[in-house]
Amino acid sequence: MIKRFLFAGIVCLSVAACTKEEKSKTSEADAFIDSLINEMTLEEKIGQMTLYTSGWDVTGPTLNENYKEELKAGRVGALFNAHTVAYNTDLQKIAVEETRLGIPLLFGYDVIHGHRTIFPIPLAEACTWNMEIIKETARLSAKEAAASGLNWTFNPMVDISRDPRWGRVAEGSGEDPYLGSLIARARVQGYQGDDLSDPFTLMACVKHFAAYGAAQAGRDYHTVDMSDRVLRETYLPPYKAAIDAGVATVMTSFNEVDGVPASGNKYLLTEILRDEWGFDGFVVTDYTSINEMVPHGVVANEKEAAELAVNAGVDMDMQGSVFNDHLQKLVEEGKVEEKRIDEAVRKILEMKWRLGLFEDPYHYLDEAREKEVLFSKELMDHSLAVAKESIVLLKNDPVNSKKLLPVSKEVKSIALIGPLGDNQQDLLGTWHASGDAGKVVTVLQGLKNEFPDAKITYAQGAGFSGDDRKGFAEAVETARKADLVIMALGENYQQSGEAASRSEIGLPGVQQELLQAVHKTGKPVVALVMAGRPLTIEWIDESIPAVVNTWHLGTMAGQAIAEVLSGKYNPSGKLTMTFPRNVGQIPIFYNMKNTGRPFQAENKYTSKYIDVPNEPLYPFGYGLSYTTFTYNGLKLSKTEVTGNDSLEVEVTVENTGEYAGEEVVQLYIQDLVGSVTRPVKELKGFKKISLKPGESQVVKFTINPDDLKFYTRDMSFKAEPGDFMVTVGPNAAEGDTIKFSLK
Ligand code: BGC
Repeated sequence: MIKRFLFAGIVCLSVAACTKEEKSKTSEADAFIDSLINEMTLEEKIGQMTLYTSGWDVTGPTLNENYKEELKAGRVGALFNAHTVAYNTDLQKIAVEETRLGIPLLFGYDVIHGHRTIFPIPLAEACTWNMEIIKETARLSAKEAAASGLNWTFNPMVDISRDPRWGRVAEGSGEDPYLGSLIARARVQGYQGDDLSDPFTLMACVKHFAAYGAAQAGRDYHTVDMSDRVLRETYLPPYKAAIDAGVATVMTSFNEVDGVPASGNKYLLTEILRDEWGFDGFVVTDYTSINEMVPHGVVANEKEAAELAVNAGVDMDMQGSVFNDHLQKLVEEGKVEEKRIDEAVRKILEMKWRLGLFEDPYHYLDEAREKEVLFSKELMDHSLAVAKESIVLLKNDPVNSKKLLPVSKEVKSIALIGPLGDNQQDLLGTWHASGDAGKVVTVLQGLKNEFPDAKITYAQGAGFSGDDRKGFAEAVETARKADLVIMALGENYQQSGEAASRSEIGLPGVQQELLQAVHKTGKPVVALVMAGRPLTIEWIDESIPAVVNTWHLGTMAGQAIAEVLSGKYNPSGKLTMTFPRNVGQIPIFYNMKNTGRPFQAENKYTSKYIDVPNEPLYPFGYGLSYTTFTYNGLKLSKTEVTGNDSLEVEVTVENTGEYAGEEVVQLYIQDLVGSVTRPVKELKGFKKISLKPGESQVVKFTINPDDLKFYTRDMSFKAEPGDFMVTVGPNAAEGDTIKFSLK
């Protein structure tokens, strides 16, 4: 038996970046891992490359008896969906005490937006444009999950998507590579902290590599096909940002890219990830995605699939069992070199070392800490803060010359109507880990807390599917008796997320009809749109005076919504995904190309639809506040730059309304002429500022030479001389513009 507990602490990622002390730790780690690999049989090595799930029973996770036997035989290196200190301690004991070498297990889980305390879905949180708060969410999620015996999260999901039909947009940051990259970095830093062996952190896993968000027609798992230029310019940057932030692991995607499924794609997993980007952690597949290369049609059977995957650069097989079943034979047949197996095992063991598991396999397993951390005040307070900041005010028109929002504290009676009004489970949103629905503050409860003197009545009115209208009459009656109606409409938690693509993305079921019936009463209506994706809500926008997009906000959802409605918090969220008018406009995104026939209303033969405008319902970057902001005096430090010069941009933003508020000031550039066509706008900077009524601030940006670079005609990444437009404004469709040239 190997002496496991000899070595302490961490290993720095690259030797060059190590301090003297870390260097000696690195060589200790190398020596330890070398000796371990020497000791291991081929079967044990393959075991380390195998990840199995623990299933769920009524009361919690349970491990399939076969997996338990495999675990004892040293044929499992990691488990997922296993959590709680008591449960994972038992499993870790088997690994440490009952296997020949006693190598500790990794415990992974989809901690996507919280573990037990749930934060807003990632797409909602992206709308804060606040990197500090996003990082803090990841830090606190890690703290809570690690207290529950976990050491690895399958997040951040950084797939750019321009198609809201795809249910998994809920898990990402939206459509923009620049913002998506900053968020990817913040999340990795938040989860991993500075030291993986800190038992309050988790190892992160950036996913799904690559381009999973570009599935054809928004149908999950569907084909992805794009030029290398688009791949590199739009889809790859957030994964790269996560790698640069030191993410420990990468998950492959289910889709193919250029005809080769990602889990067998050497171009992605070796040439780009390892050779170009220098990724030093390990690559895990998505769930059975090696096996799925058979139906994809690039291999005839699972043995060939295992060969393709491991030779492409996969280090760990999630749930497919193909490595365990076939790698030994493939090595014996000379189809896979043992050197490749050793390389994969080394990366996995290095991570176990960095997590401190060889020093103490149980250091994530502390029952006292678990009790103390789960649902602690720190987590609940943060859940409320981030939920408020994620909310996007879409419309707030006056009714009888007075805006409906914020709702006056003097309001006497409020009717709350809709399937999300008195609902806990669905407010958690998709992928809510072990979120506890019982702890969710409903919208009804939130309103009661915020408006203690008002009479608040509730009617569900309709469900999330089908055409049952039996509840309409009660809903209409409830509305009639109130001064103000708040409609809580949208998707349930299963209507977005994995395997939840939709071909129509309006309000599901008969909810819009319910809204229409209530609207007919003539009562003032505020619509809350609560969903995991942008919905097509053109009728609502035309007909309802106040519209608030709340997404799925997690544990403190109802309180956050009520505090926005009351004005205790002035909404500041800005969309990070374009809202289409109808499904026919999809894919729709702000950083599109101009075409050779840009839109002209009077000219039929220009690029447009004959039945819907080109413009979206709400553009990227859009979101209102209870106050108003004006932008003035856009100027540049110079109008010509050369080579390595940077350029200062400034604009004065003033709060011209009656409330203190926050504004996300956005900077876009357009490269007017390139050796290949360039987008009409690209986000290159933003600042979130806070202003009191009447206050103004000069907001400054720097445009660096790197901001002007792109993949030119010969695919070199550089800036080309010429003219650039700079636009600074409140969203991608508005703002003042100024020009400069690069000589
Ligand atoms: C999803 C991944 C997830 C994995 C493990 C898959 O179906 O695509 O995002 O991490 O399951 O739960």
